[in-house]
Amino acid sequence: MPSPISGFSKLTKEEKIDWLATNYSANTESTKTIIKKYWNTDSNLQQLHDEFIENTLTNFYLPLGIAPNFLINNQLLAIPMVIEESSVVAAASRAAKFWLDKGGFKTTVLGTEKVGQVHFIYVGDTKKLTNFFNELKPKLHEATKNLTHSMEKRGGGILDISLRNKTADLDNYFQLHCTFETKDAMGANFINSCLEQLATTLKEEANNYESFTPIEKKIEVVMSILSNYVPNCVVRAEVSCPIDKLNVTASLTPIAFANKIVRAVQIANVEPHRAVTHNKGIMNGVDAVVLATGNDFRAIEAGVHAYASKDGHYRSLTNATIEGDIFRFWIELPLALGTVGGLTSIHPLAKLSLELLQKPSAEELMQIIAVAGLAQNFAALSALVTTGIQQGHMKMHLGNILTQLGATEAQKEQLTNRFKNETVTHSAVADALKVLNTNK
Ligand code: MEV
Repeated sequence: MPSPISGFSKLTKEEKIDWLATNYSANTESTKTIIKKYWNTDSNLQQLHDEFIENTLTNFYLPLGIAPNFLINNQLLAIPMVIEESSVVAAASRAAKFWLDKGGFKTTVLGTEKVGQVHFIYVGDTKKLTNFFNELKPKLHEATKNLTHSMEKRGGGILDISLRNKTADLDNYFQLHCTFETKDAMGANFINSCLEQLATTLKEEANNYESFTPIEKKIEVVMSILSNYVPNCVVRAEVSCPIDKLNVTASLTPIAFANKIVRAVQIANVEPHRAVTHNKGIMNGVDAVVLATGNDFRAIEAGVHAYASKDGHYRSLTNATIEGDIFRFWIELPLALGTVGGLTSIHPLAKLSLELLQKPSAEELMQIIAVAGLAQNFAALSALVTTGIQQGHMKMHLGNILTQLGATEAQKEQLTNRFKNETVTHSAVADALKVLNTNK
């Protein structure tokens, strides 16, 4: 077992790679070769990536693909997606094309409010704390003026600060529950800076508040941090069409197809095991665009899944209805996104993705990403209720299998043609390749 190392972050990149390859790899030289193979030849670009995080050794590539033909509120967009799963971009493109001649996607932003909290412990008379807070509130706004000044110029800032009594859940636990408008910024730094200032002012003012007893004066701030649960930062995306336009497959009539989609959504609404997979498919589309545009996919994931269980039961994020002869399919998603700041302007590909999307505002990006999620779900459900998911999935995966088996380009072409009409399995592809190799 290698011994622990101190001062690792102070080593040069080469020294870190040497240390890692020597201590943790089966083949020191090949480990070093793989790591270095992914260095960018443009040293400025490499340095930019090196500086995103600590202890960078190399780059980890994911493909960036494009799903064209998305008609969103009458604007035609090609959506950049960063994802490793082989069938996702193809599925998004198929769904975009399907809805293109049916009016496309319609979207509405329902709210853009972000949240942050100062969590604190107060031991004492609750009425006195309420009086203290009412006197404190203008001082809290005053104390954050320097921080909120430029955000206010852009139309954002702190929307409200309220005192929340959480003692029913945890002894002596209270919050400053704060809401924010951060316009085109995701706003994490802005919100956290404001919260830390609010916490400092809260403590100082409590300490000087004459009506408090010595114990009441000693408010203990536990932490100050934004919340990734943003149930009032929500966007809705929708598609609809007359049922007879739902000619998806020869094996199902349009009405049978519509009924099956509605059933599939109902199942995801009542059955958490299915809902998690249903929503995972939605996140295939959402995360791919979140990543392409340099946004924080962990924040989005956490917030979306909390939203899916907002009534205490984990449910589908999409809905489907048949009203008369109209099929409607929609999604509501909480998305705290930025189109300025963070990685959005530093990572050249994130910047390019935003340019390709016609430089959207954060609200516009919310709409695009909700559409990507809805499209992905429509594609997944369409496959699931008709042919099943594996047919398309394995066809897309065929290339990966052939690469893994070491097929030449000519063999890949030959076998891709052959498997157009055959079921793709790993062993069937391996057998077919073996035959090609023995007949060479
Ligand atoms: C696979 O990545 C996503 C699906 O499982 C989604 C779904 O089942 O709805 C196909």
